[in-house]
This record gives sequence, structure tokens and C-alpha cells, in this order.
Amino acid sequence: MSVDIDVVNWRMEEADETIVLTLDVAGQRANALSSTVLEEFDRILGQIESRPLQGLVIRSAKVNGFIVGADVNEFQKIVDSTQAAALARAGQTVFNRLAGLPFPSVALIHGNCLGGGLELALACTYRIAREDEATRLGLPEVRLGIHPGFAGSVRLPPLIGDLAALDLMLTGRTVSARQAFALGLVDETVPERHLLNAAHAFIARHPHRRRATWWKRAPSWPFLRQPVFRLLQRQLHKKANPDHYPAPYRALDLWRRAASQEEEALSLGELLVGRTSRNLVSIFLLGEELKRNGRRNPHGIAHLHVIGAGTMGADIAIWAAFKGFRVSLQDQQPEALARTVKKAYGFYRKKLKKPVAIQNAMDRLMPDAGGNGLRRADLVIEAIVENADVKRGLFRTIESIVRPGALLATNTSSIPLEVLGEALKDPSRLVGLHFFNPVAQMQLVEIVRGKQTSDSALERARAFTVAIERLPLDVRSSPGFLVNRVLMPYLIEAMTLAQEGIPIEQIDQAATRFGMPMGPVLLADTVGLDICLSVAEMLSGPLGISVPDRLREAVERGDLGKKSGRGFYVFDRSGRPRHRAVRGHTDTPVIERLILRMLNEAAACLREGVVDDPDSVDVGMVFGTGFAPYLGGPMRYAEALGEVGIASSLRRLAQEYGPRFEPDEAWARSDLLTHHTVPRS
Ligand code: NAI
Repeated sequence: MSVDIDVVNWRMEEADETIVLTLDVAGQRANALSSTVLEEFDRILGQIESRPLQGLVIRSAKVNGFIVGADVNEFQKIVDSTQAAALARAGQTVFNRLAGLPFPSVALIHGNCLGGGLELALACTYRIAREDEATRLGLPEVRLGIHPGFAGSVRLPPLIGDLAALDLMLTGRTVSARQAFALGLVDETVPERHLLNAAHAFIARHPHRRRATWWKRAPSWPFLRQPVFRLLQRQLHKKANPDHYPAPYRALDLWRRAASQEEEALSLGELLVGRTSRNLVSIFLLGEELKRNGRRNPHGIAHLHVIGAGTMGADIAIWAAFKGFRVSLQDQQPEALARTVKKAYGFYRKKLKKPVAIQNAMDRLMPDAGGNGLRRADLVIEAIVENADVKRGLFRTIESIVRPGALLATNTSSIPLEVLGEALKDPSRLVGLHFFNPVAQMQLVEIVRGKQTSDSALERARAFTVAIERLPLDVRSSPGFLVNRVLMPYLIEAMTLAQEGIPIEQIDQAATRFGMPMGPVLLADTVGLDICLSVAEMLSGPLGISVPDRLREAVERGDLGKKSGRGFYVFDRSGRPRHRAVRGHTDTPVIERLILRMLNEAAACLREGVVDDPDSVDVGMVFGTGFAPYLGGPMRYAEALGEVGIASSLRRLAQEYGPRFEPDEAWARSDLLTHHTVPRS
């Protein structure tokens, strides 16, 4: 029987004195807890709480999951910490009402159950999860620069123990249904078809709710709390700088103080309007925007054919098969195919665990020395040696074999699409799909538009990229596209500093202190100095970049970085660089030179229209290189510094170090630099 209540996002059915409440947020792919959704939930609870019911079941109608969390779009409209705390308090009040119902409640969890979604489930008497790998539970708030705010930090420790709760809150990692059951986070895991029956059974039996055993709660004993706090704080310091990422420190402090819900709300309020959270939320929303862009059109791709099973082609093929595509992989060297199959097996075993799933993924990835897959392919990605003539020859052959509707793509880092397109009768179906190394870790893919590339080719390329869970960023075919072009002056400046005698450890430390995931010298060694040299040489003509002698000499000697055991650093057998201790700091001039060269190049890209707007630079550099996420990307950082200040610092550096620091004309054109699609604080 369906029950009448004036709400748009919830469906309510009643049978045998049990209410089944289904969340289906109108017009959205996923359920997020907006103020409206919470307000409707509150009204529903108000209507049912005084009725003589047996129980309440809460579930989601969305295929992709239960609830992804609070509605992040609303965060950007918050003006001050008081308003932010009020938002948290409102959520707490509704969830307290849920927790206080006089009859048992059950959350039926499938897919994503994250942040506020898990906090809702925590306020239920029981939690039952669908037992598959797609079910993920967690409190990833720290990734947006905040901590739980709907009483999650208060409800979680008594349920699963203090250390497990802190682990989830401080790292933001998610767990599978199986892990959640082992932790005590859910009461049972069942297959999809048994979910509702399991909920009814729990309501009928009404067993004691789960609680952590006494030893799991031992860290909260008064005489242990302080030492545990200090230990965890020390561990946290190794992972995150509190000035850049205060949220996990706040969450830990709430635990140390055994804080109340009100204290949680106040702390959340302060974090939500702070710089870090504003920037992380903005980057998150920009990433979501790229995904939405890619989902507008179908890709029409079932079979992918990759040519070149080297560093990149192999990883692209392995990844696409992992994400469900049928992939044939061609290489002229049979050993390269054999290596890829071995690598794929190791990767799938680690990621998929279950033998059937591993076997299915292996079945989707077909080594294809003869190139038979070309005839059936809907998309061909070329990832062979970086040589225009060889690639052109290959594209000529490809075009003579593939179906007329097949999309053709190249992973080239440096050859203009127009040059490769010359080989084709129909260059409008050629697009660049520029992946980053390693493919499994780097989320960004640059979608390269040549002069002749058609809109439909771009749309399909974007849609495919999203389908393999990567972020498609549109860039124009020009030297280095966006990411390599902006990164290269930064890497070159680091090598120039090293050439001037500044210890490489000191250069790298300046960058990691600034918030980069890895210093530029170590990054160059990791990417491979031969690759750096070829990109630097490719950019040296069009951008006037001069290639440092030290880089050239290292490559001539065969010192290629991590892969050869020696580059700027010397690497041990397990691939770790040997460091010398850094004495003293000269961070300011070092970091100023590194970052300003990057910002200057980013401004030039905007002036030339390599990407459309500053948001694209930001999202590209954060997801393509890990540029300090707490700063929200290079252009957002530039906005905080001020264009006038940047231009005058560049002029000062140009006087001291040479014309490579001359400010780009773009700094005088705020129309180019301050257009933001997502509203900024
Ligand atoms: P690689 O040298 O590791 O692999 C190239 C593979 O292609 C080799 O296995 C080779 O046997 C095969 N091959 C060459 N000619 C072939 C042909 N005619 N037919 C079939 N197979 C052929 O090269 P890598 O590093 O994977 O680069 C491939 C492409 O990806 C290049 O265009 C490069 O610019 C681009 N790229 C490379 C990145 C990197 O970090 N290595 C990053 C992004 C793009």
C-alpha cells in the first residue's frame, strides 16, 4: 500500500505495519542529501513516529547506490561558519529523530553509501549491505576538507571501535560490504534478491544492536585517550600538513575531547568556509562537471583495439578491459603482448580478487598480434613510437581496414593532430586521447581537438573516457597540450636550480612543502629523463624553452631516472631514491621560481585558447599532475595572489634570472584569467 505524503524525493509504501521508504532524488543520477531531501525526510519521520508500527526500512531507488553524501553544490552557497554549522545541526536533528524512533529501522545499502549517507545509516538500528564489490561504505569528508557533520564522528566509535572509526574518518577510505561486515559497520551482507527479506527478518527478530567489543573501545579510556591521540597525530603529520589539510586533525581532536554533536557541528562549520575546503569542493565539482560533459552523448563503443603494447598502450588496454570493454591489443613484438598479459593478471588479481571476475577481465583482453580486432573495433587507440612518419603510415593502414563508423584516436604527446590527419581520407574522425602515466592512477585524459576533428568524434571520445572512469578535458592540438606544457617549465626550472648548485633534495622539499605530491626533480626521474628530454625538446622551439645541459648529459650517459636506477637521484633496488639530509631552507626563492614559471605558462595557455577557461587549467593540473589540491589549482592560486603582484614578481625575476620570467601579456587581461564556471568564494 502506498502512503500519501507531499514529498517529491521519497516514496513510501506500507505493508504489515512496516514502512519501506525509498529515496529517489528527482532528476539526479545519484541520491545526495540536499536540504530539501532532509526536510522531506524530517516530515515523513514526524508523520510516522507516533504510529504503532513494526519497523521502518530505508533504501534507494538508484542503480548506482544508496546515498553519496550531503549535496556538495549547497556548500558553495554557504556564506559563513554560523550558517554552515546550522546546516550540520539540521541534519543531526533529523538523524536523531530517526535514531529515536520507537520501532527498529533498517538501512538497505547497495553501491555508494558515503558521508552523510553512511551517517544516515548509522542512525538506523540495523544496516544490511548488498554483498558485491560495487558496494562501498565510507566517510570520505576529509577529501573535501571537512569531517563528518551529521553525528557520524559520535556514532561510529561505539559501533566499530575507536581505532577503526578514526581510520575511516582520517583517511576517507571506503570499504566493501565484506570489509564493512568484518568491521561491524553492517549487521549482515546478502545478495540483492534477499535484501528486503533480510530487513523484514531483522525487524521481526529485533536482535540487540551491534556494539564494539570492550577492547575495541579501550583507546577511549581516559588514561589511554591522550597517548593514542598523540600517536595518531604523529602518524597524521607524516601524511598531511595541518596548515594545508586541517580536517583530519580536527576530526582527531574531536575524538580526543569526546566531543558532542554540537561541537562536531561547530567545527564542521569553521572548516566548511575555510580556504582548503572551498578549494577542494571547487575542484571536486569541476571534476563532476567534466564527467557530466562526457555523459551527454553515447559513445557507441563495445570493442576497443589498441596498437602498441608499450608503457602506455599496455596500461590503456588493461584499464579499459578492467572497466568492462572488450579490448584487442596489437604489437609488432610478441614479447610486449606476453608482458602485458602477465601484468594484466597481476593487476586484476589485486583489484578484483574473485577468480571469476579475474577470468572475465582476462577474457575481455585479447592479445592480437595479427591485428584481427581492427575489423571489429569501434575505437582504435594508437600508442606506438613517437614518430610522425611511422604513425602516419599506421593510420593509413588502419583506415583501410576499420569500419566506416569507427573512431580513431592517438595517444601522441607531441605530434599535432593535423600532421597525423594528413594520412587519412577522413581526418574528422581522428581525435587525441592523451592518457597520463601511470594510467591506473592518473585520472585525467586530455581530449585533443585538431582543426579537422568533428564534434561527434569529440563527443564520443569524451563519453568513452567517462565510461572508463577517467576525466575528459578538452584541449586544443598545440605543442604539449595543456598539462605537459605547463609542467615542463617547472621541471626545467628545477633542473636549472640544480645546475646552479642547489641540492636536489632542497628543491624537492620546497615543492612538497608547498603542497606538491612529489618534488619536480624526483618527478622528472620517475617519468623518465628521456621522456622529459623529448618533451622539452619538442617545446623548446615553439615556447623558447632552453633545455638544461644536465638533462641532456644524463640521457646521453644512459641515466634515465628511476627505470635505469640513476638519474638526478640514485635509486636503490626497490626503486627508492637515496636522499641526503637537507640543511637550512631557502624555500622562498626556490618555490617562487618554480611556481611562477608554471603560472606564467598557464596564463599563456589561456591567452592562446589551449583550454577555454581558468577552471580547465585548474582541473587539468590537479588531476593530471597532483598540483597542490588545497590551493584549488594554479589559476585559483594566481587569483589569490593577485595578477598585479604576479606580474611584478615575474618582472623582478626576469631582471635577476633572464627573460624566461618575462610576464605573459595575459596577466594584464583579467577577463582571461578570472572567468570561472563554478562560482568561487
Ligand atoms: P613504448 O616505446 O613503451 O611502446 C611502444 C610500443 O609500440 C612498443 O611495444 C612497440 O613494439 C610498439 N610498436 C611500434 N611500432 C608499432 C607498429 N607499427 N605496430 C604495432 N606496434 C608497434 O612507448 P610509450 O611510452 O608507451 O609511448 C607510446 C605513445 O604514447 C607515444 O606516442 C608517446 O608519446 C605517448 N605517451 C607516452 C607517455 C609516457 O609517459 N610514456 C605519456 C603519454 C603519452
